[in-house]
Amino acid sequence: MATPDIAATSLAFSHTPHPAPLAAEARAAVLANPGFGTTFSDHMVSVQWDETHGWHQAEVLPYGPITLDPAAAVLHYAQEIFEGLKAYRFASGEIALFRPEANAARFNASAQRLAMPEVPEALFVEAVTQLVQADREWFPTVEGGSLYLRPFMFASEAFLGVRPSKQYRFLVIASPAGNYFKSGAPAVSLWVSEYSRAAPGGTGAAKCGGNYAASLVPTAEAFARGHDQVLFLDAVERKWIEELGGMNLFFVFADGTLVTPPLTGTILPGITRESLLALARDEGLTVREERYSLDQWRSDATSGALIETFACGTAAVVTPVGKVTGADGEFVIGSGGPGQTTQKLRQRLVAIQRGEAPDPHGWVHRIA
Ligand code: PLP
Ligand code: COI
Repeated sequence: MATPDIAATSLAFSHTPHPAPLAAEARAAVLANPGFGTTFSDHMVSVQWDETHGWHQAEVLPYGPITLDPAAAVLHYAQEIFEGLKAYRFASGEIALFRPEANAARFNASAQRLAMPEVPEALFVEAVTQLVQADREWFPTVEGGSLYLRPFMFASEAFLGVRPSKQYRFLVIASPAGNYFKSGAPAVSLWVSEYSRAAPGGTGAAKCGGNYAASLVPTAEAFARGHDQVLFLDAVERKWIEELGGMNLFFVFADGTLVTPPLTGTILPGITRESLLALARDEGLTVREERYSLDQWRSDATSGALIETFACGTAAVVTPVGKVTGADGEFVIGSGGPGQTTQKLRQRLVAIQRGEAPDPHGWVHRIA
């Protein structure tokens, strides 16, 4: 959708400080044990869009409920997209975002697929930066902690006809984050779902809320059976491994090769996935983006040809997969715990994200 000719970078953000931010002691308790996605910082960012003004009314304001017309299109037809990225506070005290331009690009690819206006990259990065700067006291103190940022956009026009909305809101909220998986197990267990997540021509490559709504029954099924995540196969042949409910997958073979499913349009193009592909190549590993079937996976895990599998994503970082269960029974990967390549790649990535290692790809975006 065409965005009116307005220089988004010239948007000035108004600032309304929270009149009663969380008391320092209560905040310290949250930051020492943040979990994932349950507590939110003191502020949020809001920017409005309509056909006449384009992007306007950029604000940093107290975190809190928003008012929506009951006919707002998002509540009926789910015209909504989101992103997930993290800010890190380095030992030096500097604060940095990891690859925010990549999130902006994916956000706009999602916007195109959902018939929404694009958010100029500069506005996206500025919105996130403004929030982190306002809530710089909200970084977890726990090891491995970060400030998880959730930019999202939804259709706010009050209208029940089925067509793209003429009004949108773009918001950013922030949540201190520790580990995504609370089980504390050394490796996660997957449930192979008989439901499909995405079909060719659908919205699988977009980060839209509707994809996640469709994943909730299979996810609940996985949890009820004692697993940590749901794994989706392709919707056509029900054979090829696609991705998890909220993460991409990598397979590590005994000969040192790494394989990950290709971006065919039905899986999310993960930024962690892309970063790990680059780091693996830097390490001299052979990396292939190619289809891999559930049957082959089971047989390779059993024969020992495959020694590790890991899941990756912003929230989950790099998480070893220990066990896979589906309609045909279960199989264990390697020793059932973290493997060497998984650990090495995780350490390489995390060291760059936290400013502890050189950043040869220019991924670290310092903001203060
Ligand atoms: N796949 C799905 C379905 C996801 O929700 C996510 C998380 O954002 C990913 C993959 C990993 O993407 P990223 O590494 O950009 O966080
Ligand atoms: C993320 O990793 O940022 C996601 O959006 C995935 C979700 C499971 C939290």
